[in-house]
Amino acid sequence: MAEWKNLDTLKSFQALTRFKDSVSVKEVMTGDQGARRVAEYSVPMSNGLAYNFAPKQVDDQVLSALKDLAREAELTDKFAELYNGAVINTGEKRLVLHHLARGQMGKDVIADGVNKRDFYVGEQKKIADFANKVHAGEITNGAGEKFTTVVQIGIGGSDLGPRALYIALENWAKTNGAFKMEARFISNVDPDDAAAVLASIDVAHSLFIVVSKSGTTLETLTNEQFVKDAIIKEGLDPANHMLAVTSETSPLAGNSGYLAAFFMDDYIGGRYSSSSAVGGAVLSLAFGPDVFEQILAGAAEADKLAANEDIMKNPAMLDALIGVYERNVLGYESTAVLPYSQALSRFPAHLQQADMESNGKSVNRFGEPVAYQTGPVLFGEPGTNGQHSFYQLLHQGTVIVPLQFIGFKDSQIGTDVIIEGSTSQKKLCANVVAQIVAFACGKEDTDKNKHFEGGRPSSIIVGEKLTPASLGALLAHYENKIMFQGFLWNLNSFDQEGVQLGKLLAKRVLAHETDGALKALSDLFEI
Ligand code: F6P
Repeated sequence: MAEWKNLDTLKSFQALTRFKDSVSVKEVMTGDQGARRVAEYSVPMSNGLAYNFAPKQVDDQVLSALKDLAREAELTDKFAELYNGAVINTGEKRLVLHHLARGQMGKDVIADGVNKRDFYVGEQKKIADFANKVHAGEITNGAGEKFTTVVQIGIGGSDLGPRALYIALENWAKTNGAFKMEARFISNVDPDDAAAVLASIDVAHSLFIVVSKSGTTLETLTNEQFVKDAIIKEGLDPANHMLAVTSETSPLAGNSGYLAAFFMDDYIGGRYSSSSAVGGAVLSLAFGPDVFEQILAGAAEADKLAANEDIMKNPAMLDALIGVYERNVLGYESTAVLPYSQALSRFPAHLQQADMESNGKSVNRFGEPVAYQTGPVLFGEPGTNGQHSFYQLLHQGTVIVPLQFIGFKDSQIGTDVIIEGSTSQKKLCANVVAQIVAFACGKEDTDKNKHFEGGRPSSIIVGEKLTPASLGALLAHYENKIMFQGFLWNLNSFDQEGVQLGKLLAKRVLAHETDGALKALSDLFEI
């Protein structure tokens, strides 16, 4: 069994701290050395992707220290324990099985008397049968007409991942003959969210999936009722239009008011649930079960790489280690994910939850305060849009933000125009290349206002094209990176107690059990 130790008790971490500022990104990325690093500091990922870390503050010495850290922190052993069914989520005393939802990595995992791989595959099959029947017009609305739209009602992990994946593949599916149904998402308890979605769809031809693992999330239950009222107002029966995705122990399970119910379980955290029925139902309905299977297959390939002990063959582990070096040795407080792909426009939003809900903790797995920094603040926007927004601060601000670029050689749609001698896709790629060098090397100018200091580290994941499989690999890469960082920081990355207090106080406000500032603030809104 691996030993769970705080980062600052590891000898290899102490050794790593000696390399603080030993590498200047500006120096190593300038001239021939820069070209050599781009060629050498690249680790293949699965599904045609590669992780290039040439513009990071690392060299062979730092990499060797990171290898030692990976070994001493027993990252590979901890991952093996996780996928073999250990209780890694100690806070909630749960197994962590999102990898198992997309492939068998180790031993059979039997929990609650059930083979969990069989359970996940079984639910996926049920979803596939249902989706195929909807597409074939065998399952229809009350009037016997085909459904054209699917609407997911859920929040947090029951919204962000599936929504990001849907947006990522919508154009790919339309171009590749895989588009079956339009998908929409209702998440916010703001009534304007549900109202706007309902106003933009044909309710009579829509399926609504209520997605909540717990079945108790106030926003989702409120939106479910909001939608049911709208269905009834159209003279329709909600039972012909509503599905549920939940856990078998939730209050939603066994409710006869749904056309069908599909299950995940407590061993898959909300923010890791895209690979389960949570992502499976909406994505199989929107694009067909085959496309969802391709996403899972891509993710499973990336998981296999993550089990590798050699960090130069394990891009998620290497990315995680460099991130910890940046956070705990170099002292950087935030990080930005910048996909040069419009299809990935909601991917940073998904990663905000995945990363910050997992590793935004200040006590270790044993509930003891840690004396070092943990998860960074993560934000992001697609390029080139971000360039015309917050890149000013990234280039010339007083803080250094390590950047994580993502880019693809080809667009998903293929149609393009040549303006001023280049296609839009080439312009997009030229911009990400330019940004990496601008951030790394900067530009001297006697006018200080126009001076670029440079020395700003980044990495890039480069791919051929964003497809279901490469998207799955990308999703798993980040999930695994977050997991390894949690191991290094000795955190339980799989609970989220930090979201509870706000929920509790909101309930008190609604029950008018307030005093002090809570009452005064409630009065501002006349609650
Ligand atoms: O409040 C946070 C949270 O528990 C997330 O972790 C989760 O993804 C989200 O709420 C939704 O939870 P559920 O699927 O149970 O409705």
